[in-house]
Amino acid sequence: MLGGLAPPAGRLAPGQLRAVTSGLAARRGLWADLVVRDPDVRWYLPLHRSNSCDVWLVAWERGQDTDWHDHGGSSGSFAVAEGCLAEQYRAPGGRRIARRRLAASEAAAFGPAHVHDVGHGGGGPATSIHAYSPPLMAMTYYGATEYGLIAREMVAVDGPEGGARGRGGAGTALAAASASAARLISGSLPAGAPGIDELLAEARSGLARLRPEAAFAALTDGAALVDIRPLEQRIAEGEVPGAIIIGRNVLEWRLDPRSEARIPALARADAQIIVMCSEGYASTLAAATLRRIGLREATDLDGGFQAWKAAGLPARPAQPPR
Ligand SMILES: [Fe+2]
Repeated sequence: MLGGLAPPAGRLAPGQLRAVTSGLAARRGLWADLVVRDPDVRWYLPLHRSNSCDVWLVAWERGQDTDWHDHGGSSGSFAVAEGCLAEQYRAPGGRRIARRRLAASEAAAFGPAHVHDVGHGGGGPATSIHAYSPPLMAMTYYGATEYGLIAREMVAVDGPEGGARGRGGAGTALAAASASAARLISGSLPAGAPGIDELLAEARSGLARLRPEAAFAALTDGAALVDIRPLEQRIAEGEVPGAIIIGRNVLEWRLDPRSEARIPALARADAQIIVMCSEGYASTLAAATLRRIGLREATDLDGGFQAWKAAGLPARPAQPPR
């Protein structure tokens, strides 16, 4: 497909990726009859994948955009073949947001730290060619907050520029590569090692977990809500007034009654600790560990902060770091 535009192995620099995307964008005969216009969701098609890079064809309709994301450490480039795209990106070395519009036959290239939000730039339908090196594996999405861009979630890639739909699913080279990587990894695990699902089920079997309303009642009865989410997540999601914030990385040291770094009011065998995270998964493992070190009343919030907020219980924007 690439006709010698890119070497089959090795990491490509942004300038080399730009040569790939610009070169392909100019060769309409290679892809023009493949494009599908979908007003509901961005459409894409994988054109090429090697050890050095992957290349995608993307179609954009008015109003479609990607949301803020990075490229999991890959460099990249996109060239506009038809129509116009608008890009917002984090300017190097700062919080400043820069903007640019790319018309047909223009291309952008970026290094591994690039964070951007790309969208349809107005006018008629747009078509673009995207290339990444190394091939895209994962992307992190960001929320735009008053503190700047805050990482929200990391997702395994099933298409370029995320969240779109196309023919990148089952049966493609990308799906085969992911499956073979998973087999390689699981084949080297020690026999009997529990997976995270088993670990979670085991931890839950020993906990009387609390739904938000029951947790709220327990708080008025003297229980303590311990929020273990990182600052970035609290800023993006909000927090519970009165919750005690203890980072997951220091939790056991703060709550073990034998620890020199303990919080005396909480580090007691009979303390009613309710651990809270975002969705109620990490909090289960944390609560189970607290029970192991002797806090026999420790449990966690079923559904986490998300369920708490959905239940209409008290929440507020996160307080700035002091
Ligand atoms: Fe991107």
